[in-house]
Amino acid sequence: MSKKTYYITTPIYYPSDKLHIGHSYTTVAADTMARYKKLRGYDVMFLTGTDEHGQKIEKKAKENGTTPKKYVDNIVDWVKDLWKVMDISYDRFIRTTDDNHIQTVQKIFKTLYEKGDIYKSYYEGWYCTPCESFYTERQLKDGKCPDCGRPVEKVREEAYFFKLSKYQDKLIEYIEKHPDFIQPQSRQNEMINNFLKPGLEDLCVSRTSFDWGVPVEFDKGHIVYVWIDALSNYISALGFGSLDDTEYQKYWPADVHLMGKEIVRFHTIIWPAILMALDLPLPKQIFGHGWLVIDGEKMSKSKGNVVDPKLLVNRYGSDAIRYFLMREIAFGQDGNFTNEALIQRINSDLANDLGNLVSRTVAMVIKYCDGRLSNERARTEFDEEIETMAVETVKKVEDAMEQLFFSHALVEIWHLVRRTNKYIDETTPWILAKDSDSKDKLMNVLYHLVENLRIISILIEPFMPQTPSLMREQLGITQSQCLTWESTRTWGCLKDVIVQKGDIIFPRIDMEKELESLKKTQNLGKKQESDDIVGEEDGLISIDDFEKVELKVGEVLECNKVKGADKLLVSKIKIGNEIRQIVSGIARHYSPEQMIGKKVIVVTNLKPVKLRGVLSEGMILAASDTHDHLVLGTIDKDIESGSSVK
Ligand code: MSP
Repeated sequence: MSKKTYYITTPIYYPSDKLHIGHSYTTVAADTMARYKKLRGYDVMFLTGTDEHGQKIEKKAKENGTTPKKYVDNIVDWVKDLWKVMDISYDRFIRTTDDNHIQTVQKIFKTLYEKGDIYKSYYEGWYCTPCESFYTERQLKDGKCPDCGRPVEKVREEAYFFKLSKYQDKLIEYIEKHPDFIQPQSRQNEMINNFLKPGLEDLCVSRTSFDWGVPVEFDKGHIVYVWIDALSNYISALGFGSLDDTEYQKYWPADVHLMGKEIVRFHTIIWPAILMALDLPLPKQIFGHGWLVIDGEKMSKSKGNVVDPKLLVNRYGSDAIRYFLMREIAFGQDGNFTNEALIQRINSDLANDLGNLVSRTVAMVIKYCDGRLSNERARTEFDEEIETMAVETVKKVEDAMEQLFFSHALVEIWHLVRRTNKYIDETTPWILAKDSDSKDKLMNVLYHLVENLRIISILIEPFMPQTPSLMREQLGITQSQCLTWESTRTWGCLKDVIVQKGDIIFPRIDMEKELESLKKTQNLGKKQESDDIVGEEDGLISIDDFEKVELKVGEVLECNKVKGADKLLVSKIKIGNEIRQIVSGIARHYSPEQMIGKKVIVVTNLKPVKLRGVLSEGMILAASDTHDHLVLGTIDKDIESGSSVK
C-alpha cells in the first residue's frame, strides 16, 4: 500500500540576509510538522524557498551596483545556511528565478487570459513597493501604506487585470462550507468581514515600469505581478504545467500553507481565486500564525528590534531556540520575544526538567547497577501511574499536533518529564539501594525512568532534532524497534540497556551575566536604515568596526578531539610568545594529526568561553559553504606566528 502523503509549505522568503527570528518562526513550525508527519510514516513534501522578483529587489541590486540575479544568488546561499543552522529539513527549495517556475507562471497567466479571467486595461492608483501591494486612495491610511505605514507611490500604467471580483461570492461560500480552510477561526472572520463582504475589486496583475520579474509571454513589455508569481510556487515546485507533473498529481492539494497573519489575505483570497479560475483544487488549509513582537511591536529592521537567529543558535544550540519558539508562543497568537524569557525556558524546562532527569537517571544506573539495566519487574505502587501517563501523553500530543497546537504538545510532554522527575522522589532509589532485598525494585524503578525517557525522546524529536540522539547515547537506547513513533504506544519496549555518562545536554545559564553579554552583541534598539528587506548598506561596517577584531597568525602545536563532542577539536596554538587553547568545530573536516604544524588565522581578542566544558581562548578562521564543506583560512606564504592579519 502506498504511504499517505502530506504536503506542507512555508511562504517563500524575500531574499534577505537580515532574516530574523520572526522569519525563522514560520519555518521552524513547518519543519516541526514535517518531521512529525515523517515520524508518523507519511510521505512528506516540505517546501520552502525564496521570492526573488519585484521592484524592490531590482532597486537594491542597482544600489549595490550589481544585477538582480547576482544580488539574489548571494543572499540565497545565506538563507540556505540559516535553515541548515536551524536544522530545517525541507524537501524542496524553490527559487522564483528557477526556469521551470518561470515557465509555469507564464503558462498560468496565459491560461487565465485565454479563459477571459485576465484582461488588459489601465491602472491608476497607489503602490507600496516594500509590500508589493496595490491600494486605492480610499484604502491608504494618512496617505501611507495601510499595512506597513511606509510611503506609497502613485502608479499610472497600462496593465492586465485579474477578475477577482467574479470570485467574491464563490469564495465566501467556499470558506463558509469549509470551516477548517482558514485557521485560526479569528483570521477567517477577519477575511470575510473586512475583505470579502465589503466587496472585491479586480486585481492589477502586471507592471510595466520595471523589468525584474516574469515577462508576460504574449506581451513582453509586461511583468507578472510578484504575488501571482510568488503564489504559483506552491504548484510550480511540484511540476504543475510541465511535462512531468507526477509530484503535482501526488501531493496537490497541499495539506497546509503556513504563514504569518499579514499575508493571509493573499493566500485566502487571491490564491484560491486563481485556483478556482484554473479549475484546480484548493489547499486544504491556510494557517496564519501570529507575530513575534518586541515590546508590542512587530520585529522589523526599520524598528531596530530584530533578533538574529544565527547568533542565538551559536550561543544556545538550535534545539533550545526551536523549543523556545514552539513552546513560548501559542501558535496563532502574537508572542513577545525577550532574552529573559528565552534563558528562563532554557534553564527551567531544558536544563532543570529534562537535562536533570537524564543526568540523574544515568548517574543512578551507573552508581547502583554498574550501568546495566534489564526489564525486571518488581513493581512499586507508583509504576502504573507513570506508565499510563506516558502512553496517554502520546495521544494528547497527537491531538495537539493535528491542530498545529505546538505549544500544547510541548506542555503535555513536559508534564510527563516533570511527573517522571517526581517519580524519583516518590520511589527514593537511594534508599532502595541500601537494602539488598530491594535490588529488583531498584532495577525496576530505574528501568521506568529510562523507558519514560525513551518515550520522551521520541515525542520531542519533531521539535528538537539533536537532543534525542544525545539522550539515547547516554541511556544506551539502540534497539531501532524502540525508536519508532508506534513504539511509544507500548510501554516497556526496551530490553537491556547499558548507560554511559555523557556531557550535560543543556548546561544552566547564568541569567545576569548572559543578559549583559547579549545586550552588547544584539544592539537591540539601534535603528537600522531600511525596512525588512535585503541587506543593503547596513550589511557594511566601518574600518573602525573592523579594527576592533584582532587577527593573528598562529601555529598549531598540539591538537586533540574533545571527548564526547564529535564536532570539536581542541588545539594548543602558538601566537608569538603566547600559547592559547582554542576549541573549533572542525573535527568532521580535519583530523588532529592534519592540524599539527598548520599556520592558521586566529581571532585573538574574543572573550574566552567554555565549549563542552573546555576553555576556548579565541577562534580559528575557516570558510564553509552550504554543502557542508569547510576549509581553514590560511596565509599565502610562511610568516612568523604572532604576525597581525589586517
Ligand atoms: N515573500 C512573501 C511571501 C510570499 S508566499 C507566496 C513574504 N516574505 S517575508 O520574507 O516577508 O515573510 C516570510 C514569512 O516570515 C511570513 O510568514 C511572515 O509572516 C513571517 N514573519 C516575518 N516577520 C515575522 C515576525 N516578526 N513574527 C512571525 N513571523 C514573521 O511575505
